[in-house]
Amino acid sequence: MNNALYKLVYISRNQIQGNAITLRAEIEQILATSRVNNLKSDITGALMFNAGCFAQVLEGPHDKIQETFETIQCDTRHAHTCILVFEPIAERSFSKWAMAYHGNDSNAALQFSDITLKSGFDANQLNGEHIYDLIKEHLLSANLSI
Ligand SMILES: Cc1cc2nc3c(=O)[nH]c(=O)nc-3n(C[C@H](O)[C@H](O)[C@H](O)COP(=O)(O)O)c2cc1C
Repeated sequence: MNNALYKLVYISRNQIQGNAITLRAEIEQILATSRVNNLKSDITGALMFNAGCFAQVLEGPHDKIQETFETIQCDTRHAHTCILVFEPIAERSFSKWAMAYHGNDSNAALQFSDITLKSGFDANQLNGEHIYDLIKEHLLSANLSI
């Protein structure tokens, strides 16, 4: 068992089809499930979404993150998950949130759109720490509910 505190940052491509209402309903469902499960698993973090991609930060005990990420990776609502950062941390950045959220029209998500577009969604060109900082800066100072 490895219970040291870690953070994981990944990006993925949205596979949810349909209009804005369907999309919103699916994301609300993801957040509701995440908030219940993550609390039980001692995981905190944040999810960001733009029209095409998700970026998520998970913080918590190493083994719990691995377990949760394995489930997330199998979810057909997204694909091409790519881990950008997985490293030990001294403390949590999102300690108050089982899963914070920033959607489509937020400033952070717009900047995230820009970054992913410019990279051509090439993981080698994406800087995980940059995406992490973006989520952190904007989420910590914003109103966080969907
Ligand atoms: C982009 C994305 C992010 C997700 N994040 C989480 C998460 O942080 N925690 C979680 O438990 N499930 C998350 N899920 C949902 C899981 O893939 C899965 O549906 C869920 O854990 C199943 O929970 P259940 O067995 O309690 O129904 C996410 C799904 C997607 C598509």
